[in-house]
Amino acid sequence: MAPFKAIFSLVLLLVISGKLVQSDKTFNFDNQCSFTVWLAASSSIADFDPERGPGTTLKIASVPDTWTGSIWARTKCSFNPSMTKFSCETGDCGNGIDCQSPPPTPPVTLLNFGISQNVVSYEVNLNHGFNVPVRIQPVRGSLVGGSRPCPVVDCIKDLKDVCPAQLAAGNSNGAYVGCNSPCDALKDPKYCCTGSFSGSACQPNEFSRTFKQVCQLAHTFPGDNDPPIYQCSGATAYNITFCPF
Ligand SMILES: *[C@@H]1O[C@H](CO)[C@@H](O)[C@H](O)[C@H]1NC(C)=O
Repeated sequence: MAPFKAIFSLVLLLVISGKLVQSDKTFNFDNQCSFTVWLAASSSIADFDPERGPGTTLKIASVPDTWTGSIWARTKCSFNPSMTKFSCETGDCGNGIDCQSPPPTPPVTLLNFGISQNVVSYEVNLNHGFNVPVRIQPVRGSLVGGSRPCPVVDCIKDLKDVCPAQLAAGNSNGAYVGCNSPCDALKDPKYCCTGSFSGSACQPNEFSRTFKQVCQLAHTFPGDNDPPIYQCSGATAYNITFCPF
């Protein structure tokens, strides 16, 4: 009977491990801003109503097992009078309410994710500027390459207060709506880390240092690896909060 028992154990093991590999993750969005945001993802992560009023939440229970992309918040979105074009003051991505023509128009705070089964890399990235404060809080799980819980990453202070005039983005009335990255605003290879400024020549700059003072846990220029892009294994959820003050 021993061989039979061994095979039975093996089958049981496969069934159990199969269950563990299956990724049951949810993304919980919470808009704590005093204004409405319209969520956007590129590539599309799920079908959902993107419009999130102040104080509302959204749970996406069917996150794909494999997905790489960005999530962001759009602000002050509306249809034009003839209802043919939907546009937003920040984070705009073409004509659609569903964001059919990404990437977004900067400035926009980007939440970048790489999902591979139960391992997820995540970061808050300011390479295309900043529009809305945000936090990513993994729920449970453990940090890959470290024996500690998966760290929070965020940029929760409004860069408005420190945004240099050359980088400030305004709406049609000239009011501040977000802070551009120096690469997008000034198109200098030094800030974009292109050409002779790529690789190890990609260094912090006066603008990225200002961003870093306010948002230590966000990536503030293309070569920023402090903190590294965390990878979290086994988290049951990722809580994404806009304006978590
Ligand atoms: C994550 O969000 C869910 C749903 O809003 C909430 O119940 C839970 O307490 C949050 N967990 C953490 C660690 O923030």
